[in-house]
This record gives sequence, C-alpha cells and structure tokens, in this order.
Amino acid sequence: MAGNIKLQICETADEVSVEAAKVFADIIRSIPDAVIGLATGSTPEQTYEELAKIHKSEGLSFSGVTTFNLDEYWGLNGDHDQSYRHFMNTQLFDKIDIRPWNTNVLNGAASSPSLECEAFETRILASGGIDIWLLGIGGNGHIAFNEPGSPVDSRTRLVSLSEDTIEANSDGRFFSDPAEVPRCALSAGIGTIREARKLVLLATGLKKADAIAAAVEGPFSPDCPSSLLQDHPDCTFILDQDAASKL
Ligand code: PGA
Repeated sequence: MAGNIKLQICETADEVSVEAAKVFADIIRSIPDAVIGLATGSTPEQTYEELAKIHKSEGLSFSGVTTFNLDEYWGLNGDHDQSYRHFMNTQLFDKIDIRPWNTNVLNGAASSPSLECEAFETRILASGGIDIWLLGIGGNGHIAFNEPGSPVDSRTRLVSLSEDTIEANSDGRFFSDPAEVPRCALSAGIGTIREARKLVLLATGLKKADAIAAAVEGPFSPDCPSSLLQDHPDCTFILDQDAASKL
C-alpha cells in the first residue's frame, strides 16, 4: 500500500539533487522566513551544493531562514570533523547567508541529553513548526537515527545506533573503522518529523531499493521506520531509477 506518499522518479542521482534543491528554493522564495528541516549523510550533499549555487547565481537569500537538523552523534563536539554540525557548516551554512544563530543542530556534547532534546523540541514549537523537512533513508529503512522498532510517536531523544547503521557509516565514506563510530546519537523522533508540514525524502542507488519498497509498499510498521510516513498528508520521495527499481 502506497498510502499518500508521492513519488518523483528521476533518471539519475544528479537529477534527484537538482529537483530537491528546486523544491527547497521554491519554498524559501515563497516563505523568506521558512523553517527548514535538514539531513546529513552522502545523499543530500549534492542538494546542498545546488542550493549554494542557487544562492550565488540567483541571489536566493537564507537570511530569514531557520534550520533544524535531524540528528547528531552523541559524544561528538560540533568541531569534530565527523560531527553533523561540522558537516552542515562545511556543506551548506558557510556557503550561504544564513544567520548562524538560526541554525539548530543538536549538541552531541551537551551535559544532559534529555534537556538538550527537550530544548530542541521547544525551539521547533517556538519557531512555528517546520515547513519542510529533507530526509534520507537508511538501508534498514531508518529515518534520522530512528532505527527499526522506533515508535510512531517518538520524540527527540538519545538513541542507540543499529549494527547496520554503524557498518554503513564506517565503510570508508565517513569513519574508516567501525570502532570509531559513536554507538549513540541524539535524534529527532518519528513523531517530531511527522509534524513537519511537508516532507521530502531522497534516495539514490540500489542499496536503498529494498528500504524504499518497504517504505512505500510495505505495511505501516515500526519495523520499517520510513513506512510510518505513509499517512503523512504531504510527503514526496524523490528517487533515482536504482532506488526505485523494486517498486
Ligand atoms: P546516506 O544516509 O545518505 O549516507 O546514505 C542516509 C541515512 O542513513 O539516513
């Protein structure tokens, strides 16, 4: 059952990034003080490159925009080169005119994880809620670090990474050795993500094909956390041919 998930299938991964950047640029043009949710990982890197290009060539301004990131490794300081704060600064924030104080990335070195997570949720509410949240998907169907089994109403919290995720993030792309990958993270919950007014999930490559098929056509179940987006009123998956190959 496909639920409400809309599918946009592109020829190539490059096209996925261009299409995703267009969606975000359009929102920022129509809502200059938009509240935007962001993701890290390999998949959105080129989308951020495209957005930085649009900023430079067309003057798209992020000066009124507020951002919230999905997650952060627990135990990593924001200046660690594998922290998601560092990722966001280098991949996007340093290249656009966003106000640094309007960028919200959970602090992986906070003294109290529960207070940090509560403050994050409070800031989302105070900002008026998220207009659009960019998502990736894990090979195991996770969204953010909500691993299989995560409840549909989960909120931002400290979570454990699954073995699949530790393995996927240490295949030379990020950490070179599985022992270096933090075992825990702070992650927006599925309930937190589902409250965004619009969701856009990107997936490219054959490695994501099974997860995409389960998310779109499988049962609505915490066994595949991304399937819990099926009843969202405005959720689009932008996929390349490989990621869509098992649909
Ligand atoms: P990736 O990660 O973009 O690096 O494949 C996505 C995810 O695990 O959510």
